[in-house]
Amino acid sequence: LNIGKHPDMVVYQENPLNLGASPELVRQSFITPEVHFFVRNHGTVPQVNIYNYRLSVTGMVRSPLKLSLPELQSEFPPSTVIATLQCAGHRRNELAAIRPIPGELPWSANAIGNALWRGVPLRDVLKVAGIEAGAQHIAFTGLDEIDKDTESFGFGGSIPLEKALESEVLLAYEMNGEPLPRLHGFPLRIVVPGYIGARSVKWLANINVQEQPSTNYFQQKAYRLFPPHVQAEEADWEQGTMLADLPLNSVICQPREGEILRAGPTAINGYAITGKGSLVERVELSLDEGVTWKEASIQPRSHSWAWRFWKATLDLHPGQYQIIIRTWDSSGHTQPVDTKQIWNWKGYLNHAWHRVSVSVH
Ligand code: MTE
Repeated sequence: LNIGKHPDMVVYQENPLNLGASPELVRQSFITPEVHFFVRNHGTVPQVNIYNYRLSVTGMVRSPLKLSLPELQSEFPPSTVIATLQCAGHRRNELAAIRPIPGELPWSANAIGNALWRGVPLRDVLKVAGIEAGAQHIAFTGLDEIDKDTESFGFGGSIPLEKALESEVLLAYEMNGEPLPRLHGFPLRIVVPGYIGARSVKWLANINVQEQPSTNYFQQKAYRLFPPHVQAEEADWEQGTMLADLPLNSVICQPREGEILRAGPTAINGYAITGKGSLVERVELSLDEGVTWKEASIQPRSHSWAWRFWKATLDLHPGQYQIIIRTWDSSGHTQPVDTKQIWNWKGYLNHAWHRVSVSVH
């Protein structure tokens, strides 16, 4: 796979291409370099000819638009955001260990990355198009091809108009100071900070302003959340909750699951993240099933839409340990204790306490 990714990336699938990083690579730098950035594809990776490329803005607008990339870049002032993208399937492997989740990729805590995105605020483009009264959702469609049953269609999804009008939502043409790489959506993707990664549609071809959420399979069927008692066979798709904001979550990157350590002061690290509004305030570690907790030190808060790295030192004596992490946000929310409480048949949004077992000699 000569695709410009680090050799230690975990390949879940080659066609469509899906890969994540090892925990060390995920936590290596605050801004994830492209070579360590996870790739989540449902279909083909289009090769877009930039000379023919046009973004269309259609639907409930006064003036529909058709913009080339140079037009978008020259007619609208650029803006940047540092934002963490996280897939809804992040940490699915822990849910699948409780009850199988057939047909979905067993992502560990590695469907995540943080980048500096540069582009045009979506709201500036919507303003020029002129939103008509009654519009409530902004739908996106990509240029990739996904084969499902007998149909072939582009990946799509939508966000509520209210979110679309926030300044952080960008039509991004650069990632980490370089033109958007092909695997990450060249020439243009939407970046919706705080939302599940699925809403950040790559190879963006069309923006449609509409009354209802997108009718695309990935908005109407996939990426809905069900309670633990609902099984695949009996699920009524319409009854699931359409996913939007990411939940509060935290992960231990070091040490790794199953690692054998030497007794003494042991460095522990990882990251914490929240979706919207309330911010990560506190990160805690427990070695006794959550009876007592030790506070970790968190990297200063620098960017509202980015993860926060944390670290701690634990003095470990010889023995077996399960290290548990949890985080709290500024509204006093914390994470669910047990993955069983939040198991769902599609395996989305696992944000239960993250646990790593190690033995110390
Ligand atoms: N956009 C298109 N066109 N096709 C896709 O398959 N996958 C989505 C989203 N945008 C996808 C897409 C999902 S599920 C995620 S998590 C993110 O892209 C992943 O972005 P990345 O591959 O740049 O990490």
